[in-house]
Amino acid sequence: MQGNSSTGSRSTVRPATGRLGILTPGLGAVATTFMAGVESIRRGLSKPIGSLTQMATIRLGKRTDKRAPLIRDFVPLANLQDLVFGAWDPIPDDAYTAAKKAGVLEDKDLEPIADFLRGIKPMPAVFENRYVTRINGTNVKQGKTKRDLAEQLRHDIREFKSKHSLDRVVCVWCASTETYIKPGPQHATLEQFEKAMERNDDAIAPSMLYAWACIMEGVPFANGAPNLAVDTPALIELALDRGVPISGKDFKTGQTWMKTVIAPGLKARMLGLAGWYSTNILGNRDGEVLDDPASFKTKEESKLSVLHTILQPEVYPELYDKFSHVVRINYYPPRGDNKEGWDNIDIVGWMGYPMQIKVNFLCRDSILAAPIVLDLALFSDFAQRADMKGIQEWLSFYYKSPMAASGLQAEHDLFIQQTKLKNTLRHLMGEEQITHLGLEYYAS
Ligand SMILES: NC(=O)c1ccc[n+]([C@@H]2O[C@H](COP(=O)([O-])OP(=O)(O)OC[C@H]3O[C@@H](n4cnc5c(N)ncnc54)[C@H](O)[C@@H]3O)[C@@H](O)[C@H]2O)c1
Repeated sequence: MQGNSSTGSRSTVRPATGRLGILTPGLGAVATTFMAGVESIRRGLSKPIGSLTQMATIRLGKRTDKRAPLIRDFVPLANLQDLVFGAWDPIPDDAYTAAKKAGVLEDKDLEPIADFLRGIKPMPAVFENRYVTRINGTNVKQGKTKRDLAEQLRHDIREFKSKHSLDRVVCVWCASTETYIKPGPQHATLEQFEKAMERNDDAIAPSMLYAWACIMEGVPFANGAPNLAVDTPALIELALDRGVPISGKDFKTGQTWMKTVIAPGLKARMLGLAGWYSTNILGNRDGEVLDDPASFKTKEESKLSVLHTILQPEVYPELYDKFSHVVRINYYPPRGDNKEGWDNIDIVGWMGYPMQIKVNFLCRDSILAAPIVLDLALFSDFAQRADMKGIQEWLSFYYKSPMAASGLQAEHDLFIQQTKLKNTLRHLMGEEQITHLGLEYYAS
């Protein structure tokens, strides 16, 4: 779809009328921090810091036009007051108890909204220890086949929608990182995928069942973890058939976000890289799950791909051939959600002289992830109302391992991703693209 006026007033994106349901598989640190934050903002107790949909502006037209509305005033996004939350989790804790256990938010922020959070109770999850070994849950669905389980998820979505009189629903995966699964023939086509669900094939993980169920129900699916979930040819095919936007994988928060800021800077100045060593300590449940080598492998794959695609060693072998890239995650309970990351970057300058950059980042994982969940939910819903379907590459801004069309290398550079995101909004609203050429300001 495409708007065609220079003012955007004739855009054909459908308005965000009525209520939007946001479902999260996983009601842990990220999901509860997100939900608590939205409620707190709705009550005027907090500010939506870190969220583009709430705080960022977008320039329209020439610099001299001085038109830079807030994104949320430019594109029709669901209003925070119209959001309704639901979740699935194998652990039966309501959102208040889960948030207390996660230890991200302090009592001063949780107590005023305790009743609201207690009202969010997780639906029984599709869960198997084979895919997430460090969690033991009792709130789990039973079914003969994986297809039965996925049908139960579809039923949950319909019930959630009718119970809360929702107009639309979106889903953001906020559950644990599953063990590494290599894409295989079971994921190649929809037909093979559905047969594999029916014979309980191990290659079909719970996240894929959620993704299948959502797409079947016309619910956009955004994947915040590095496991495949919706990133298979079978489910991409289904999303295209059903006209559903999908995106992933793995929220781009702490160290990887920093990498996608620094690496483009090195490349822009043609400075070389000899090595990049990243390590961190983290003590939340996510850290515990990632302590299992099989789950860590999924995460590692996601974190490692970033530098190569940004630096393009095949184009710049003198600068980036064979740099060493090491990523470590260390589970260290005393730190809880307050991660500490260290990066040592060995760079190379003029005449081959070595230099070093050290980054010591004391971040809060869920505080960085929560606004990403909000933006992905609102933009995925917007994309659907704009008749966008399949992979939403413009949302790669939010991901460590962005999904891209087959044969296309994903874009990792944060600033290219940001331009792509804003230009997509301009395009959908019938505004001119901004090329930053700027010659018109100097024409005689
Ligand atoms: N916080 C960040 O900065 C960040 C960045 C990138 C990715 N992520 C990913 O986001 C996800 C959530 O992180 P978190 O810190 O909230 O973790 P968490 O452990 O606090 O919460 C995850 C929740 O998912 C539940 N769960 C596990 N399998 C499930 C299933 N099959 N269905 C439904 N629920 C299931 C667990 O019981 C748990 O409550 C993780 O996969 C993490 O790797 C987080």
